[in-house]
Amino acid sequence: MRKFFPARKRGWALWIISGLFLAIFVASGPTKLTISRASLKPNGLPASPVLVNQHTTLVDWEQTRRPFHKNALQELVFGYLPDGSSTEIIDKKIIANTAYNNKASIEEYTLTATAVFNGMPSKTRPFKLVVVIPKNHTGAVPVIVMQTFCPNHNTLRHPGISKPTNIGVSCGGNGLMAKTMSYVFGRYIVTPPTEMILDHGYALATIYPSEFVADRAVSGLAALRELSAGHTDERTRWGAIAAWGWGFSRTLDVLLQDERFDPGALITYGHSRYGKSALVAAAFDARISAVISHQSGTGGASLNKYKKGESVREITKVYPHWFAKSYAGYAQREQDMATDQHALLALIAPRPLFLGNARRDVWSDPNGAFRAAQATKPVYELYNKQGLIQNKLSDFIPDADIAFWIRPGTHGVVKEDWPAFLAFLDAHYK
Ligand code: GCU
Repeated sequence: MRKFFPARKRGWALWIISGLFLAIFVASGPTKLTISRASLKPNGLPASPVLVNQHTTLVDWEQTRRPFHKNALQELVFGYLPDGSSTEIIDKKIIANTAYNNKASIEEYTLTATAVFNGMPSKTRPFKLVVVIPKNHTGAVPVIVMQTFCPNHNTLRHPGISKPTNIGVSCGGNGLMAKTMSYVFGRYIVTPPTEMILDHGYALATIYPSEFVADRAVSGLAALRELSAGHTDERTRWGAIAAWGWGFSRTLDVLLQDERFDPGALITYGHSRYGKSALVAAAFDARISAVISHQSGTGGASLNKYKKGESVREITKVYPHWFAKSYAGYAQREQDMATDQHALLALIAPRPLFLGNARRDVWSDPNGAFRAAQATKPVYELYNKQGLIQNKLSDFIPDADIAFWIRPGTHGVVKEDWPAFLAFLDAHYK
């Protein structure tokens, strides 16, 4: 600076350079889209292809069309999930009996899981599952099974919960990163309102998915390859979103062995990238009872075709480990895809589904998610359910089969979100 500008011009130079940085920042995709607001009226073309027509029976859906989309979503978007899986409990310990003002006990499991591709089994590294169980509950308790951006000890903030040792984490282990994340992305981005959840009568189970597939391009891809050694087609090898979704199912393997938990009320929860994995989990595992998927966006609830916000090209470039390579290939020809994300939601039918959104989170394309939800209505109707009832993005109906929630503000998990999630759960499980 000193070298190029004389002292009297330095002030101007600073203004110009800062202005340039600001212009680049404002022009960048996510920021530009945060400045605009999603329309509350559905707009854009309906999802395609149409999933069922007036002649389709439930048997046609279950025996032909459903398997077609299940396969196409693996082939074109997520990569293939294992042909078989199992979960082994290596260790279990009680962390606390009087946690959260004596409202709950906390247990920690060490697990390892096996994925079988083409007859070849591969094991994960050990990972931890922490379960928080309300004490005043009579009978089997419903469980919210969650994945978050941070390791379990950040998510639950209780002494004694193990810190992961083996990974590059996406949320620093010392808590400083967690605080910054809460400031930018809302008070519940890292830590959910655990006592509020317990007061509503739900247990909470949490795993940190980076423990078995790191949220990093190089190490994440290596773990994915290791786990799916028997799968030889590089184009359709599973990405992290599918593997994290599979991780939800491994948690269920444990919960379902335990009579304290209600097998009819095991709910997957996730925000953003884990909103995507929560959807994949339920789409591929019928044991999951319901889903809360908040701001899942591209590769989640939002349609790939005719989309706003993050494009397939952008997401596959920035996160090369999240999806099958084939998804990046389709970025050029999104309109030709034989399926789309509405089919992912339809695989969850007739189970309850909550889709969370924010007005200024156009990056996640709330309109694309709404149109996806609309397109699944005929599938829910095959099961004599109503599916989405609301006509506008803002008409939140907690007891609907598909409850679509949109609030003001941006990407994150803020004060209003958990009361909405719990209203949905209470409407379905109380
Ligand atoms: C990025 C990414 C999104 C993703 C989000 C998140 O913004 O582009 O697709 O949902 O991260 O996980 O927070």
